[in-house]
Amino acid sequence: MTAPTPTPQDRAALRTRLAAELAAARARTRALTHDVFAGDDPDFTRQHSPLMSPFHWDVAHIANMEDYWLVRRGAPDSDLVAGVREDVDHLYDAFTNPRAGRPALPLLDPAEARVYGDRVREKALEHLEAGAFDERRTLADGFVFSMIVQHEQQHVETMLATHQLRAGAPVLHADPPPRSVVPGLAGTEVFHPGAEFLLGTSVEPAALDNEKPAHPVHVADFWLDAAPVTNAEYARFVDDGGYRDRSLWSGAGWEHITAEGWTAPMTWERVGDRWHRTSFGVREAVDEVADQPVLHVCFHEAAAYAAWAGKRLPTEVEWEFAARYDHATGTTRRFPWGDEDPTPEHANLDQRHLQPAAVGAYPAGASPLGVHQLIGDVWEWCDSGLEGYPGFEPFPYKEYSEVFFGGDFRMLRGSSFGVGTPNARATFRNWDLPIRRQIFSGFRCARSDGPAPFSACSPDRSVSRDA
Ligand SMILES: [Fe+2]
Repeated sequence: MTAPTPTPQDRAALRTRLAAELAAARARTRALTHDVFAGDDPDFTRQHSPLMSPFHWDVAHIANMEDYWLVRRGAPDSDLVAGVREDVDHLYDAFTNPRAGRPALPLLDPAEARVYGDRVREKALEHLEAGAFDERRTLADGFVFSMIVQHEQQHVETMLATHQLRAGAPVLHADPPPRSVVPGLAGTEVFHPGAEFLLGTSVEPAALDNEKPAHPVHVADFWLDAAPVTNAEYARFVDDGGYRDRSLWSGAGWEHITAEGWTAPMTWERVGDRWHRTSFGVREAVDEVADQPVLHVCFHEAAAYAAWAGKRLPTEVEWEFAARYDHATGTTRRFPWGDEDPTPEHANLDQRHLQPAAVGAYPAGASPLGVHQLIGDVWEWCDSGLEGYPGFEPFPYKEYSEVFFGGDFRMLRGSSFGVGTPNARATFRNWDLPIRRQIFSGFRCARSDGPAPFSACSPDRSVSRDA
């Protein structure tokens, strides 16, 4: 079946939406860079961690990517036109310049990077205004504009993670997240009867290559935690000696935590008899945010917790099944709550708050079976590697995902409080090395159907089939 030809009104609405998304992404970039650092502030150009880029590299890299796709390749009636700054391409290619070496490059200074970004944006908006969207595959449905929005939003989240690693007085501020309105959610489980559903998507215009194509997959019965594992639950694992019990860890996980001397999540610190965490320069007692999802744990830590709780991590197929399948109608939907785009009532996104919200804070975003906060708050580790779906086709370039297939990665699903709404999809596939925890990562546990495990962590654990 051929998609209907877009009307002039459809195209005008698409242009308006993409222009608004480009503006929102740029506003977030500025909020993390030019709005908080003067041009000569060393924090703007310093490398805060070898895992991260200096902020001014990200700012110019965002501009360079937009230059490459929207200025040079997004012009109407021409496949290739001159870029704004082709002379700096070699400095901002992420593949030829690993993060650790970026500070040594002769980079544009913060003011030059901003001017570059502004000039590129001006041209990109001219092309958006003139573009037909349906003549070339990259431009169909405005795809490449949407890809660039998502690229900038991904770098915004990375820059937010850099802020988390930055030492010194706080420079970012936001309202506290909403409180829970569903008490007693932590530790409860939801039974998911097995079924066949459509994994991935072939119809979402913004979807990236590794989310495609949609294909039927059969999922067996399983139980899934109704909410991400909380700080209180994780603290019980830590205090029960979880980081000292070799039997809970994989060989690689044990080797890593032993070598690094890890005894708790990143930013946690024992002060007297209480755990504290540091959140964007603000130290707070963990028991004061006890019902928030635990944050900044790596895959190995998540898997060790699951073993301690007598469970396992979900596969990414189980995760997406829980997030999209509606058992009542037998259909696969866009989001846990239905097909409507996320609103502030559904999920904690867009850095509106600088931390995850307590579990049970977003009942409007729950799935029909009662699984909460699958979108927003924290990325969730899944026990799956990165592979292409059957029928995968790299588009528009192999380096987005194909070159990573089969590597030592574990999948992360959902999204975090730092993810922009245009990137928050239940089909979105994120991945990272199993040792990484500077990302906004948490997890929830799963188990195959069967008797509930005895778990010392939650003797009062209640189990609900249809909570
Ligand atoms: Fe990038």
